[in-house]
Formats: sequence, structure tokens, C-alpha cells
Amino acid sequence: MESSLPDLEAILLVGGQGTRLRPLTLGTPKPLLPTAGVPFLAHQLARARSFGVRRIVFATSYKASMFEPAFGDGAAFGLSLEYITEETPLGTGGAIRNAAEALTSGPDDPVLILNGDILSGHDIEHQVRMHCAQQAAVTLHLTEVDDPTRFGCVPTDENGRVTAFLEKTPNPVTNRINAGCYVFTRSVIDSIPKDQVVSVERETFPGLIASGQLVLGYADRTYWLDVGTPAAFVQGSRDLVLGRLQSPALPGPTGEYLALDGARISPEAKVQGGTAVGARAVVEAGATVAGSVLSDDCVIESGASVTDSVVGKGARVCAGTVVRDAVIGDRAVVGAGNELQNGVRIWPGIELPERAMRYSSDV
Ligand code: GTP
Repeated sequence: MESSLPDLEAILLVGGQGTRLRPLTLGTPKPLLPTAGVPFLAHQLARARSFGVRRIVFATSYKASMFEPAFGDGAAFGLSLEYITEETPLGTGGAIRNAAEALTSGPDDPVLILNGDILSGHDIEHQVRMHCAQQAAVTLHLTEVDDPTRFGCVPTDENGRVTAFLEKTPNPVTNRINAGCYVFTRSVIDSIPKDQVVSVERETFPGLIASGQLVLGYADRTYWLDVGTPAAFVQGSRDLVLGRLQSPALPGPTGEYLALDGARISPEAKVQGGTAVGARAVVEAGATVAGSVLSDDCVIESGASVTDSVVGKGARVCAGTVVRDAVIGDRAVVGAGNELQNGVRIWPGIELPERAMRYSSDV
């Protein structure tokens, strides 16, 4: 159902370097990496649109010039898009302040801020309505995770008021963490110092709390994933293809796999577990691919096995090779008989000779 939020504006933070996703992000910024057949951001844009967002300002920095050719003026998404670039990276808070120059919202209006690397099934409309009803300075989406020791945590009082931003600790006081989607009252954005490097997580939010302003938490347990690491990135693509998270931007029906135009999958190959097969990619007879992202023009030769991995554009995984929990960079060639696993990453263009050898990050 179409939302009735009136003309909500958003800022999308897409300027990070995506270091944890190297080498995938050496040539393509994280928000543009193909995920379930389309650039990652397409899923976020379509979801934001479905909640009534009409205008989005992209806060770009790293590889800034690649965003506008990918999304243009946004008409294809029913959105109006604007691109603002930082001369030097300003951090999350500085980027929001800088991009706000392009907003048309008035001082009391809510503005949605989205991290450009989050897949979330949460109800954005509910979050915005809670923010407006309570006239908060900022309302943060908080997600409840099973293991909060891996994150900083965000405790709230019984009224949902955020009481602190706590660093990572072995004994967290709550399982609620910052989920990377905020509603700011426009005037609060304008109070962030201009042209300075500012972190919302380390400076803006703790500062608002210390000065007694109302910072609210909107907590839920719907689907949520930060695709910042290779394992999480592959999981996100897999979950979208399998239909664990609905996305209006999926280029085909959900199922065991999704194949883009010109992909050639042998009837004697096994492709499953939410694999995305890029345009013109080839999977030969006897190959097995599970839960993976195969980029455009890559080749998986006969008898190779690829599981929970990313194979870059134009890369080749030769006959009989085993690839598990690995990232193969664009145009790399993994010679026959290799075994790559446990997070190993092959840089773009590298050619591993044919041999019976084991590459693993934990051996
Ligand atoms: P890593 O380098 O792997 O940590 O990834 P990242 O660069 O994306 O950093 P992080 O995950 O902490 O960033 C959270 C969000 O803020 C992402 O959507 C980034 O694109 C964005 N971001 C981080 N720093 C900046 C910045 O200086 N400018 C802009 N415009 N966006 C940023």
C-alpha cells in the first residue's frame, strides 16, 4: 500500500571507501556493487519510495562520479535525485550537513537519513510518524541482535528515549544496536558544524543526548543486515534472491537462483541457494554454485564448486577448483585444482596457476 507521508526528503550516505569489501570496492563503490542482479542502492531506493520518499540527496565522496550515470535523475524509480560531493570526506555527520544544502525541507520537517550499505525490512513510515508525534530531535532505528558484543549498543529508557551510545564491550547492557537509518528534524542537521569532519555516532548523537535533546529509539526485530563485509554482502544478495527480504527492485522472481540476460547455465550444472548469475556469465556442465554472487561475464568451468563467494566481473574459475567463503576479483583466473576458502581474497587480474594447493586465510 502506498504510504501517505507527505513529500519526505532523504539523504543517502554513499561516500565511504568500503575498505572491508576490498577488492570488490577498488573499482566500484560499495553502494553500486551488483546485489541480486541490480546495484545495491536500487533496493534501498525502491524501498524508500514505497514509504513515501520523493526526493533523495546522495552524499557522495569516494568514486563520486559513478553514481549519477547509474541512477540519473531518479525518474526510473519515481524519485527526484540530487548529487552532492564532498571535496574531502567529511565523515557521516559532516556529509549529512553538507548534503543538507540541497534539501528543500523547512526547519521543523523530518528528514530521513540512510546509510548506503544497509538492507532493512523495518517500517520507515512508523519510525517517521513516531519522530513527528514526539517532536524528537533525532529518531534512530535500533535493531535487536542475538550477539551485541560485536557492536556498540544503544540503551533506551522505558519511554524509548536513548540514554547513551556505548562502545563495544563483552557485557553489553542491551541487545539493541544502531541500525543506520535516522530521522532528523531539519534544524538539528543545520546545527552540525559546517565543512568539518564529524561523526554522527561519536559526536552528534552523544552531544544531543548530553545537552538534553530528545533522541528516540525505534526498535524492532525485522530483517536487518549491514553488508559491509564480504560474508554479509553475499548473504544480502542470497537473502534477496531467496525472498527472505522483499525488494521492489528485484529484476526477476525469487527462487533458488536469479539469472540476468545472456547468462548461460548448463542443464548439467547445479545452481542454487539464492545465487545471482550476472549477465553473460557461464556455468559449465558439472559445476556447482551455491549461495554466491557471480558477476557479469565470469566463467565457472566444468566440475568447479563455488559456495558463499563472490566471483568478479570477467573472472574465471577453472575446472575442478573449490571456492568457498572467498572473493575472486574482477578478471582474476583461478587455475584448475586450486582450493580457496575461509575468507581468502584474490585481487583483480591475478592469475593463480593450475595446481593442487590450498589457499586459506586461517592456515
Ligand atoms: P568500511 O571502510 O569498510 O568501514 O566501509 P564504509 O566506508 O562504508 O564505512 P561505514 O560502513 O562506517 O559507513 C557507513 C555509511 O556512511 C556508508 O553508507 C558510507 O558510504 C557512509 N560514509 C562513511 N563515511 C563517509 C564520508 O566521509 N562521506 C560520505 N558522504 N559518506 C560516508
